[in-house]
Amino acid sequence: MYQVLLVLHSYLRWFVLGTGLVAVYRAYVGYTGRRLFSKGDNAFGASFVGFMLLQLVVGLGLYFGLSPYGLKAMKVAGAMKDPVVRFFGMEHVAVMVLAVVVAQVGRTLSKKRLNDTAKHKTAFIYYGIALLLVLLMIPWGLWNPHRPLFRF
Ligand code: HEM
Repeated sequence: MYQVLLVLHSYLRWFVLGTGLVAVYRAYVGYTGRRLFSKGDNAFGASFVGFMLLQLVVGLGLYFGLSPYGLKAMKVAGAMKDPVVRFFGMEHVAVMVLAVVVAQVGRTLSKKRLNDTAKHKTAFIYYGIALLLVLLMIPWGLWNPHRPLFRF
């Protein structure tokens, strides 16, 4: 079960990134070009937030249940001195939860805006910030621990 959640969490990142990039791009073009806020714009925003929420659920399952880098590891004395445990047990979780909240708040606020340009602007700002946080906190191995791009 641990492997299933880990593989799912690993692959879901590509869905988060793919839909996030398109949602941010469409919001930018929509805002600068003063375009209509279309069904497609709404669909990509909804997909981005949806995949983020799904990733959150799987992440919580790893953190509180199955992962050796989750809460279990954090309870061991001196856990914060281990950079990998600190990253997954604290930094990754805290910033990713924040990113999910920012994306969800952005979608809610964008829907409430009265005109299409304002909808695009709000979506661009919030989705852009959420996507940046996600990009920073994925374990690419640059400044954070290295994990494979694809798990089999
Ligand atoms: C929403 C955006 C998120 C993305 C894109 C993301 C991405 C990733 C990736 C790529 C890994 C490495 C997986 C692997 O080793 O193949 C990982 C690991 C992990 N993530 Fe996330 N994550 C997100 C959110 C979360 C959240 C919200 C939590 C917890 C509440 C979480 C908990 C974990 C844990 C505990 C690990 C380590 C798993 C292990 O090696 O045992 N993640 N995450």
